[in-house]
Amino acid sequence: MQTNKLKSLFNLAAINKNCNRTAAGKSTTEKTDKIKPWKDIPGPPSLPIIGQLHHFMFKGPFSNMDDPKTIMRLIEAYGPIVRLDSMFGRAPLLFLNDPESTAYILRSENWLPVRPGFESLQYYRKNYRKSQWTGWNRITGLSSDQGEIWKEFRSIVNPVMLQPNTIKLYTNVLDEVAQDMIVRMRANRDENDMITKDFGKEMNLWALESIGTIAIGCRLNCFDPNLPADSPQLQLIQCVHDLFTTSNEIDFKPNLWRLFATPLFKHTMKLYEHHENLTKHFIRKGKNNLKNKSENEKGVLEKLLEINEETAYIMASDMLFGGIDTTANTVIATLYLLANNPDKQAKLREEIMSDSERRPYLRACIKDSMRLMPVVSGNARKTTKTYNILGYEVPKDVDIVFTHREMALMEKHYPRAKEYIPERWVVKKDDPLYYGNTHPFVYGPFGFGARSCIGRRIAELEMDTFVARLIENFQVEWFGPPPKIVQQALNYIKGPYNFIFKDIK
Ligand code: HEM
Repeated sequence: MQTNKLKSLFNLAAINKNCNRTAAGKSTTEKTDKIKPWKDIPGPPSLPIIGQLHHFMFKGPFSNMDDPKTIMRLIEAYGPIVRLDSMFGRAPLLFLNDPESTAYILRSENWLPVRPGFESLQYYRKNYRKSQWTGWNRITGLSSDQGEIWKEFRSIVNPVMLQPNTIKLYTNVLDEVAQDMIVRMRANRDENDMITKDFGKEMNLWALESIGTIAIGCRLNCFDPNLPADSPQLQLIQCVHDLFTTSNEIDFKPNLWRLFATPLFKHTMKLYEHHENLTKHFIRKGKNNLKNKSENEKGVLEKLLEINEETAYIMASDMLFGGIDTTANTVIATLYLLANNPDKQAKLREEIMSDSERRPYLRACIKDSMRLMPVVSGNARKTTKTYNILGYEVPKDVDIVFTHREMALMEKHYPRAKEYIPERWVVKKDDPLYYGNTHPFVYGPFGFGARSCIGRRIAELEMDTFVARLIENFQVEWFGPPPKIVQQALNYIKGPYNFIFKDIK
């Protein structure tokens, strides 16, 4: 156990070191004599008592935070650094649209990175349900813990979640899931080759079946044609969706729950409880299934259970939280962009049909869709010390949002930034489109460094496998206007989903 722990810590240190290396660059945020105070940072003007609130409420210019263009409007109005003062117990907020300062802060905060958000989840696991497990009041999970407790847990689960050999074990079963989903899609098409069921929910079923197979170690039967509307599978999908939507209100916007138990707070606690019960239902199913497995087939759940039951529950629960809407929406975005760029789709099909083991264009297609239509808009860190950013003093305990989506759509960072060009990720250095000409901190769909997405390798394998099967089997088309994107804790692509899936002859 002690050796394992040392190995894990080494693993974490190696990640830190790698990230520092790739991120190396000159900082534009060195100390100068002319540093201006926090209150001079541009931002919406304040009124007495209510501060900046009126800009974000009623018909204020930034009232529609669900509109993905709102952040860009803030940046256009105030520049690359925008200040929002503290409101109703929510920490002061800074939007940063500058890759060099982003690099500076992310690198400086990489030893014990504090990512704001999901405070309500931490409250649920720490205070609301504290009697559940021994030691329960200590670890609450990767999404919500901070500091040494987060680091200890992350060091323990890193080798299990990120080890290529463990993830590779799932290649075949994820392909089985993808192929079963193709069969289901074929069976659910009308005479115009459109999917008759809610396509968004269908993609969620694929995502849950995929992540469930890894987190729980067995198939969840999400594709059962007779799945009842109140089945645990469909309840879990709805619950995760509701949690992300609620979390957007309770954790990311000013809200009074930190002062007293608001109705929204009570509703959120009920949702977490529901999620916990559903997770436990699936873990029980997974544990029963373990009895039938051989020693060399050990997957994520078995390895986590070997550490201890609490670790296995918390990590599986975080996987069944973070691993559904994220991959589902990324696949929808990729399909939409491929449908609207038939030349890119044909090129991708050629690569897939070639049977080559290497599929760089497939990766590139998903990467450019995560640049143009990312499911997570940006990344965030809480400052643990005072910084000089772009000539302004940024104190400790400010939540900084790095606006990756907005940076990645700017012409100054990527040539033909608003176009879907997967080639930029595969062309040689002398090509003007070459991605390496762009500052490495413009694009960051999986976050950064020691705190970056722990499900990244799993998500990439799931999405590569499924998109390959989709393009191998269907000519994907889209008609009508682009889909609406609603920005909540995640960016949701909303229906109607005007996809046509024609069989490849
Ligand atoms: C397209 C798919 C996904 C995207 C774009 C995505 C994106 C992200 C981002 C941006 C972060 C924050 C990283 C940071 O603070 O530096 C994150 C964290 C996290 N993700 Fe993902 N994610 C995806 C899929 C998944 C999957 C499949 C899982 C489940 C295995 C997962 C579980 C988590 C967890 C537990 C964290 C918290 C990690 C920590 O704080 O230590 N994600 N993800």
